[in-house]
Amino acid sequence: MNNKMNGKFIVIEGIDGCGKTTQINEICKWLPDSGLIANNKTVIKTREPGGSEMGGKLRELILSNDKNDPPSDLTELLLYSADRAEHINKIISPALKIGNWVVSDRFSGSTAAYQGYGRKINIDIINKLETIACQGINPNITFFLEISPEESIVRRKNKIPDRIESEGINFLKNVNEGFRILAREKKWETISATNEISVISNKIKQILMNKFSK
Ligand code: TMP
Repeated sequence: MNNKMNGKFIVIEGIDGCGKTTQINEICKWLPDSGLIANNKTVIKTREPGGSEMGGKLRELILSNDKNDPPSDLTELLLYSADRAEHINKIISPALKIGNWVVSDRFSGSTAAYQGYGRKINIDIINKLETIACQGINPNITFFLEISPEESIVRRKNKIPDRIESEGINFLKNVNEGFRILAREKKWETISATNEISVISNKIKQILMNKFSK
């Protein structure tokens, strides 16, 4: 039996341009009438960085393309971790406690992929900070929307890149490889994001139904 009183935490990960935002909008529209959630509960759509009020300010700081004074890799990692701690304390944890569902565009998997595999910061440091920032909160399910780094660049050709998106193809290849390794190790749901939008969202919905309707 599905205990509808328990909140669930759903995360979507992937490299820039993989279509996370489109899929999250679709899931959040569908979930309330999916039969998975009790009538008096809601779905919180959120993101990292920037899901909390202070996180919005941190997001600007982290992604600002100020070429004169980019943060060091360690500072970048700590800023993402600070954003996560605030996000958990102010948004995710309170929502889950009262049985609401949370759907987040990125979470700690992005730090492991971008700062771990992309920036090559020691994975022990990444893991320690994840433990500190997450305070025991883990996603119930993580989806990895997979596209190639080349496809990511093509899809973003008309967008002004933020600081991380400006890193170029080799960085992106390392991040993508990191996501693939993490998805295998952590048993995330990997979905090819080169299919049509509706094919991808139907697959996500089917996986959510299978996992949470029992
Ligand atoms: P977004 O464009 O998906 O909103 O994400 C902002 C950028 O931040 C994106 O390029 C990925 C990057 N990022 C990290 O490098 N580490 C993290 O922990 C998170 C959450 C995002």
